[in-house]
Amino acid sequence: MSIQTALTKRLGIRHPVLLAPMDVVADASLASAVSGAGGLGILGGGYGDAAWLEREIARIKETQVRFGIGFITWSLAKQPRLLDLALESGPAAVMLSFGDPAPFAEPIKRSGAALICQVQTIDMAREAASVGADILVAQGTEAGGHGATRSTLTLVPELIDAIGPDVPVVAAGGIADGRGLAAALMLGASGVLMGTRFYATKEAAIAAEAKARVQRATGDETARGVVFDIARKRVWPAPFTGRCLRNDFLERWTGRELELVRRAEQEHAGYLAAREAGNFDIAAVIAGEAVGLVRDIPSAREVVVRVSQEAEALLKGATQRLSE
Ligand SMILES: Cc1cc2nc3c(=O)[nH]c(=O)nc-3n(C[C@H](O)[C@H](O)[C@H](O)COP(=O)(O)O)c2cc1C
Repeated sequence: MSIQTALTKRLGIRHPVLLAPMDVVADASLASAVSGAGGLGILGGGYGDAAWLEREIARIKETQVRFGIGFITWSLAKQPRLLDLALESGPAAVMLSFGDPAPFAEPIKRSGAALICQVQTIDMAREAASVGADILVAQGTEAGGHGATRSTLTLVPELIDAIGPDVPVVAAGGIADGRGLAAALMLGASGVLMGTRFYATKEAAIAAEAKARVQRATGDETARGVVFDIARKRVWPAPFTGRCLRNDFLERWTGRELELVRRAEQEHAGYLAAREAGNFDIAAVIAGEAVGLVRDIPSAREVVVRVSQEAEALLKGATQRLSE
């Protein structure tokens, strides 16, 4: 048995679970593992590195699974030819987050790929729907990585009410186990998209120490802000900020962001060196509040199956309890 929804039907997948296109972390190994387990793996095309994208597309095509490709929209707008590269590979879906999807919607839909748009507000959802988004991902502020301020619990049902029944809505932000999937379905979502949970899996392309920190942290230990973006010189447009684990670097600069901007030249080099050396007292571990629900580092397959089975059992149990 598995949970069938408008999302599983639209994408032809067994479980209503999507891998977040985490910049570089969601490579072919992780994405193919999620797809192989019955979810949809979405490659983390992120800011857009053509060599990375070519390599990971070639690798995932060898596995012959269905896959998606995700981009940070405002960054894709600076090198739009990357979309051609993506579409030539025949992805099942292209996911756009953070920026105006309008310039890219038509070629994506013409290629036959599903257009997935990740949004953080009702206005953004309306815009994405108006350019033909096939699936909307409603991302709450609990999410790891960049996002905005609305919480998942209110954003998901409000967005569904605003958009209507024709476009499947996927919940993202703070979901890491079967309870989260079951709750998302109760809110009216057709599935979930998870980043933080998949970050701490065997296949994720990130240092073991970063995974271990996610495994140890509680949900109290993350913060949303711009300190790391300033340090790595990746300035994002409003309203987006990034959620990461708190560390020494974040504590040192939070509240002093303007000073960090002034000293960005010196701090940038040190930051990159720390990241290269795997020093996560300085470098960011990009993760969301769901870290508090992550207590092991299993395979991605295990995550997909466990989350789906737990949710199914919870949903069955809830109806039984109600009828008792
Ligand atoms: C390490 C990391 C990197 C991320 N990078 C991207 C990205 O490049 N593009 C994107 O659309 N979303 C990115 N996200 C956000 C996810 O798409 C998603 O909204 C989020 O992971 C969901 O919340 P969760 O972390 O609680 O599962 C990233 C998230 C994480 C944790």
